[in-house]
Amino acid sequence: MQNKQAEQFEDYSIISNRMRNTKPSFIREILKVTENPEVISFAGGLPNPISFPQEALQESMNRIIAKYGQKVFQYSTTEGLRPLRQWVAKRYRERYHLQVTEEDIIITTGSQQALDLMGKVLLNKGDLVGMEEPGYLGAIQAFSLYEPEFCGIPLLEDGLDLEVLERVLKENKVKMLYTVPNFQNPTGLTYSLEKRKKLGELLRHYDTVLIEDDPYSDLSFEAEVLPYAGAGVLENSVVFGSISKIITPGLRLGWICTKNQTIREQIVVAKQASDLHSNIFAQYLIYDYLEHNDLKEHIAKIKELYHSQSDAMLRAIARYFPKEVKVTRPKGGMFMWAELPQGLSSMKLFELAIKENIAFVPGNPFYTKEGEVNTLRLNYTNSDATMIEEGIKRLGKAIQTILEDSSMNQ
Ligand SMILES: Cc1ncc(COP(=O)(O)O)c(C=O)c1O
Repeated sequence: MQNKQAEQFEDYSIISNRMRNTKPSFIREILKVTENPEVISFAGGLPNPISFPQEALQESMNRIIAKYGQKVFQYSTTEGLRPLRQWVAKRYRERYHLQVTEEDIIITTGSQQALDLMGKVLLNKGDLVGMEEPGYLGAIQAFSLYEPEFCGIPLLEDGLDLEVLERVLKENKVKMLYTVPNFQNPTGLTYSLEKRKKLGELLRHYDTVLIEDDPYSDLSFEAEVLPYAGAGVLENSVVFGSISKIITPGLRLGWICTKNQTIREQIVVAKQASDLHSNIFAQYLIYDYLEHNDLKEHIAKIKELYHSQSDAMLRAIARYFPKEVKVTRPKGGMFMWAELPQGLSSMKLFELAIKENIAFVPGNPFYTKEGEVNTLRLNYTNSDATMIEEGIKRLGKAIQTILEDSSMNQ
């Protein structure tokens, strides 16, 4: 009996189809390699620790225990801490002029849980999900658990290719469309105002649910705040937010904002079944932090650092990358995206680069279809200017090597 169990475990026959069809995060695998301190890593999507206001959070921790006592340790409501939801709603009213209240906000365990909950609530096996191509691999992974069909819509410099999207919408029932409109992961690209307007206009004719996942808009290097395509425009609009990139990812707090009552009610049921509620201690902690500190000032420090790191990377790229390589110029956020000449494989580049102790994420996991690609993601938030220069120099050399060595090309 015991042997039978061991056999089953090895051949994964006891594991559900849904899990067997879901890949582990490729980035988590790469991060294991980058634990070596010799490696300069542009791979992770980690915020710089400058964004963690440790002392202020310590003060808040002491204050909430003294102020609220046992409440901060007790079970709580699924929707989340009301004053925190009020803070989120107020911010949407002030920054985006959205007519939302705390009733439209559900606090989640990071926006990653929001992805899972949306999949759980909306997707039947085989449903069609529109994804930016390339798109956030954590979303591909989260939705994969619900066994949908993916349809990649090319992402252009100014946002989704709306001609392709319109064709797809006309020919198929697209259950939901997932977008990251600001400083997208992985490309760093941002949707133009015109694209946002046209996307909202187009989707008015369909019942597709538009998700605008927005963890990066606060990290803009420019003053302009662009409106959402769907929020305030579409019935089936859902926006996600997160504290991960502006305060800390470790507390795992994010939110879903939607005026669609049916979606909200179902999300609450799904979340009850999943974790009852997000960590209430963390919710009190963040609410207290927001009450007693100037978030705008805090974010300004993060943006200044990221802007200088992004500039340092662009300068090094101009100096060390072969001119055939194309790179996006992000106006905020944490990533840029490089495209090697056609025919070169970024996975082969990765294998070569890692020998030179330099890491990045090859483009492959950001596409819904498998196959060789010539693109890669570079993160600039976690290395100082000297490391950025050295890392890009090494990477430039590795690119030059595969450019010259035709045996390494596809
Ligand atoms: C586009 C996008 N969505 C969601 C997440 C997950 O963030 P959170 O820490 O809020 O779960 C990330 C994290 O990198 C992301 O880039």
